[in-house]
Amino acid sequence: MSDRTPVTVLDVRARKGTEKLVMVTAYDTPTASIADAAGVDLILVGDSVASVVLGHENTQAADVDVMVHHAAAVTRAHPSALVVADMPWMSFHVSEEDTVRNASRLVREGGVTAVKLEGGVKRLPMIRAILDAEIPVMGHLGLTPQSVLSMGYRVQGRQADQARLLVEEARVLDEAGVFAIVLEGVPDVVATAVTEAVSCPTIGIGAGAGCDGQVLVFHDALGLHDGHYPKFARRFADLRSLAVGALAEYAAEVRSGAFPAEAETYHMSDEERVAFESREASRADFVPSSWA
Ligand code: KIV
Repeated sequence: MSDRTPVTVLDVRARKGTEKLVMVTAYDTPTASIADAAGVDLILVGDSVASVVLGHENTQAADVDVMVHHAAAVTRAHPSALVVADMPWMSFHVSEEDTVRNASRLVREGGVTAVKLEGGVKRLPMIRAILDAEIPVMGHLGLTPQSVLSMGYRVQGRQADQARLLVEEARVLDEAGVFAIVLEGVPDVVATAVTEAVSCPTIGIGAGAGCDGQVLVFHDALGLHDGHYPKFARRFADLRSLAVGALAEYAAEVRSGAFPAEAETYHMSDEERVAFESREASRADFVPSSWA
């Protein structure tokens, strides 16, 4: 448990245009604890859990049960960072009533403070319904990975008309009351234009330096996987190499007999050891009769 003052939705909003916001994904108690100890402002229980942690092809594999399971593991770390959970694919492409029910599960069972959902004007009724239930919402525009089948993983807003539309969608979400907007995979000028057009903070990923904050996937930032690293994903460490090296050393020391050493071993008192090793006691002296 961290001793920082817990970060609230109002704190996040108040950071617009001031100190940059830092968000990172986390998927379980240890990753949340590490992120919080590093002093990030927000932890995102991303639906990227499906690909990053569970080995699926894309994020569409995460459902509400998966997100609740991982959100609860994250909030059990009692981070001071604000915890936001992704609404997974098909959890808000349903009725408003079911959307609110799904969002409330992330809050009630997962323990998160806010939810994030992908999409713009098309998702407005669902965003309004969740906000109406007093659950803070973070928007997500630009490259929206849940749309991979129809959109691919393509940078969005490269054409002027598409870019203008993106700015307008952001305005609409802002006016609806989202407390922040993730901008993923958009040219820097478009992200800057959105940031200037909305009253809430923007948090970029592959959106250049003009946003009010940045988000990275935990495993990308720490170099924990041997898969594809997008252009924008700077590796601040190479923990995979460290981990592979450490486990290779463990394996070598088990095989050579160097592990476990004396200091890593429990012992009996000499008296008990002598009694244990004496051949005099018969099994009947210590095996309970009920075992027979
Ligand atoms: O699920 C996720 O990790 C995300 C980030 C890429 C913003 O939505």
